[in-house]
Amino acid sequence: MATPTKNDRAAWIRGPKAHCTPTPDSLEHPWRLILLGAPGVGKGTQADLLHQRLHACHLSTGDVFRAASKEKECDLSPAMKAAVDYMHRGDLVPDSTVWDMVRERRGCLHCGGGFLLDGFPRTLAQAESLKQLMEDENLPLTAVLNYELPVNEIVSRLSGRRTCEKCKAVYHITERPPKSHGLCDRCGAPLFQREDDRPQSIKVRLEAYDRSTAPLISFYKKLGVLLSIEAEGAPEAICERTLAALTAWRALTPSHA
Ligand code: AP5
Repeated sequence: MATPTKNDRAAWIRGPKAHCTPTPDSLEHPWRLILLGAPGVGKGTQADLLHQRLHACHLSTGDVFRAASKEKECDLSPAMKAAVDYMHRGDLVPDSTVWDMVRERRGCLHCGGGFLLDGFPRTLAQAESLKQLMEDENLPLTAVLNYELPVNEIVSRLSGRRTCEKCKAVYHITERPPKSHGLCDRCGAPLFQREDDRPQSIKVRLEAYDRSTAPLISFYKKLGVLLSIEAEGAPEAICERTLAALTAWRALTPSHA
């Protein structure tokens, strides 16, 4: 199968009234995956690589909040304005705001190409709500990928991250530098450093992960859908590790296909 063109994820980023270009192809057995792991472990990087191999759409809640932060303040609802402030501090956005935003976009979970959920769910309440919605709407979850990395490596990945303003491609100043300094290889747009990648926000984000998101590991382990993946090494090697784990998983559990 040819490498898919990454679509603009318009229905996810801008809301359900927008249409994705190009529309993802429908697959016989779409992958419906959740990517878990601490901030900076490489979930977005893996989602990008996995999209090329599995063709499932990369649905990041962080990307929706970052897109909102670029809107004029007067165009944002009070809840979205507050969400952007939480994000800049490194705190989690309240569950009710996140859930309203995801529920509004639940058409993306029905996409025939499948999905790679990145950054959601992030609390037990969000995980319970998602589980209920997927059961109600008859959407079987394939698996949850839990990426694991020592904390010192996480801090270095976050401090050196640069992101494309336009297509959201992710780079690292030493580990994955762009070919031209400060410019995206894919679309030529400028790269920027995320506000929440400053040291004070990184600390808050790692604390929020330990407190609120790490408990999801045992939640999904109990449901029998957790696959833990070592996130050390080059991104392409981690992607191959993930694909091998997923192939073995599908062979063992065809009911999750
Ligand atoms: P979000 O955007 O989800 O951020 P995050 O989970 O903190 O994850 P990151 O995007 O920081 O890291 P990543 O794991 O994707 O790593 P990446 O691939 O970029 O959320 C942002 C904020 O929005 C939250 O803090 C919160 O405020 C709010 N929010 C979002 N969802 C929410 C929810 N559900 N509930 C409540 N609040 C929510 O990689 C990092 C760097 O490492 C890059 O520079 C990359 O190039 C480099 N790198 C990647 N892989 C490798 C490798 N193998 N080797 C070397 N370098 C690598």
